[in-house]
Amino acid sequence: MQTVQICGKTIPAIGMGMWSMGSAWSNRDQQMQAMRAGFAAGGRAIDTAEMYGDGDSERFTGQTLAHLPAGMARSDVFVIDKILPSHATADRIRPTVLTALKRLGTDYIDLYLLHWRASVDLALWARTAHDLVQEGLIHHWGVSNFDVSDLEDLFAVPYGTECAANEDLYNVATRGIDYDLVEWQKAHHLPLIAYSPLGSGGAAGLSAMRSSSALQHVARKHNASVQQVELAWAIRDGNTLAIPQTSNPVHMTSNINAGNLQLDSEDLALIDRDFPRPTSKVPLAKI
Ligand SMILES: NC(=O)c1ccc[n+]([C@@H]2O[C@H](COP(=O)([O-])OP(=O)(O)OC[C@H]3O[C@@H](n4cnc5c(N)ncnc54)[C@H](OP(=O)(O)O)[C@@H]3O)[C@@H](O)[C@H]2O)c1
Repeated sequence: MQTVQICGKTIPAIGMGMWSMGSAWSNRDQQMQAMRAGFAAGGRAIDTAEMYGDGDSERFTGQTLAHLPAGMARSDVFVIDKILPSHATADRIRPTVLTALKRLGTDYIDLYLLHWRASVDLALWARTAHDLVQEGLIHHWGVSNFDVSDLEDLFAVPYGTECAANEDLYNVATRGIDYDLVEWQKAHHLPLIAYSPLGSGGAAGLSAMRSSSALQHVARKHNASVQQVELAWAIRDGNTLAIPQTSNPVHMTSNINAGNLQLDSEDLALIDRDFPRPTSKVPLAKI
């Protein structure tokens, strides 16, 4: 199974997105079954945020951690959580982490991300996140929705180079970051976390993905689903963790298993035909 090195750990390169998981209107039993299917298939990373369901996703993640399959411990799970920019102020970061820990029912977060930059004081964020690591409340920190120029700004402030990951929108139909950011992150040993790897939220991208003859051809060739090809593509460079979201146990198993699908150069060239690599700078895509 394809793995990725992140925060000093080697984990399977496909994890579990938690947006809408645990929401009031959702089928939590089915979602819990999906999480168990994900763990059974080998998934280890969970990506939540205080924003998702106004804390419901963090609470559901807590229930998941409290009911891990037999033989699994908290330390086997890689929990990614995110703070809202509006809470990334001197007086609010620490209380927000403490609230998150309470909802998660754990005493540390593996990777704590600034959800997006907004007008956050990056020096304050880096210094405070550094202190939280020293305190043991979080093990690593990072950012999300950052482009190259944002990361350059971050790396220029004290402690900025301690940033352990950047999480951005990335899928075959939305691959603008292939122009520069993906290489920049590799050169700086900064893993990429690919959100919406199946194209949710990008209606135009989604329909292009569903009608792509290249994706269908590659899927048939490997006796895989189109979604599995999309996931295998997203993690192909070994520096990326993809976090698809599903509340369907069958989809979950299939998504995690996509980490076993190895695309060859012919597959990648065919996919490039339908979804060309960008040849100039593209504004960072965000949901
Ligand atoms: N940092 C950020 O700003 C940010 C922004 C957006 C998302 N995220 C993170 O990224 C995660 C994933 O992104 P996302 O939720 O936007 O979209 P996604 O993972 O690209 O797509 C999710 C959609 O795909 C469907 N799906 C999943 N697996 C499938 C399969 N094997 N076959 C068919 N359909 C499948 C799901 O429906 P079913 O439930 O029916 O399978 C769901 O509707 C989020 O949960 C969140 O953790 C982060």
